[in-house]
Amino acid sequence: MGSPKKNLRLVEDKNKPNRDELNSKIDVAYSIRRLKPYEVVESRGSEQVLRGDKAFKLDWNESTITPSPKALSAIQSFVSGNGGLNWYPSLGSRSLADSLSEYTQLPAENILVTAGSDAALQLICDSYLDTNDEVVVPVPTYNHFLVFAQSRGVRLISIQPNDPFRVDFDLLESTLSNRTRLVYLVSPNNPTGTIFTAAQIEQLCTDFPRTLFVVDEAYFEFAQITAISLVTTFKNLLVTRTFSKAFGLAGLRIGYLAAHRTLIDGLSKIYNPKSVSTLSQIGAEAALGDLDYLNKYLDEVSQSKTILLDYFRSIGTDAFSTPANFIVVRLPQIEETLSKLSAESIYIRNRSNYPGLADCARMSVGNVEQTRALIEKLNRIF
Ligand SMILES: Cc1ncc(COP(=O)(O)O)c(C=O)c1O
Repeated sequence: MGSPKKNLRLVEDKNKPNRDELNSKIDVAYSIRRLKPYEVVESRGSEQVLRGDKAFKLDWNESTITPSPKALSAIQSFVSGNGGLNWYPSLGSRSLADSLSEYTQLPAENILVTAGSDAALQLICDSYLDTNDEVVVPVPTYNHFLVFAQSRGVRLISIQPNDPFRVDFDLLESTLSNRTRLVYLVSPNNPTGTIFTAAQIEQLCTDFPRTLFVVDEAYFEFAQITAISLVTTFKNLLVTRTFSKAFGLAGLRIGYLAAHRTLIDGLSKIYNPKSVSTLSQIGAEAALGDLDYLNKYLDEVSQSKTILLDYFRSIGTDAFSTPANFIVVRLPQIEETLSKLSAESIYIRNRSNYPGLADCARMSVGNVEQTRALIEKLNRIF
């Protein structure tokens, strides 16, 4: 009997690829061949902020302050105790789903916790979209969703209202038909802040019962306008949310979706119940237990928005408010202006190549103290 090592070598020799095989490239799946790799845009300024340098990281719509101390200490005590990182997380995040049930006023069975709302959006696309399905998206929008949808080989129909800062409901309704499989609506929209009211979502779900409506409420907390209570009535509505924005937990990658039980059953076919890390579940649950901290931050952002908008208008710069934690500004010679801002460690996001947003940039809004310091710096630039 030969040694296992000898046997292994024999098998290798037999299957040795020829030169052609070695040189051939294994292509990606057919449905994603025409996609370009997602452009990874650097998130700037975080290292400077962590070093304690005066930098304004306003490019990714994140919270500008640290998360609730209760979330931090829950994570710290888990890590420093004998918490059980050697085990898989609580499957399906049951305890967090119960807290979310209280927060959303929905039964826990209507909630699915995911690794960020991106994972919720991807799960929806993977579960409910097939090749050639028609997907309708008002633009400009949160572009990452388009990647998830296109990876399913769908036919994407984007609709662009004349005014990017207003919802064109008639245009939307007139684009939809029985053939429309899914509609993606962001409310408040990133980057324009447009809102769909619950009444509008109800109308859409009623008028097009064969179409799935995905309402992305990543910025819900700032706007306090939601369609979430409709998910127990409508079997064609999904609402996604996140802890990345108002709760300040973007680094943990945690979000959730709410939907009718029948839709959740469909998603459960490929949902990975151990995909949300233990630390994320613990941090999110503790953050939900500190709504005073959340509300104080929401109040600060709202005040800051007024201060910042007044400032831009006072210097004659077009500035568009949104109900979320960001505003949009129109900057002449945008590239040059953004370089000047970066040189002063002010990082905002160029959105001038988005439909209808020529010369526009989006910037996050921080708390009042940060906003006053920002304006002081902006005054030296503009
Ligand atoms: C509209 C919208 N949806 C989803 C996301 C992604 O959120 P998450 O961090 O929960 O994946 C973002 C992030 O910018 C967003 O703007």
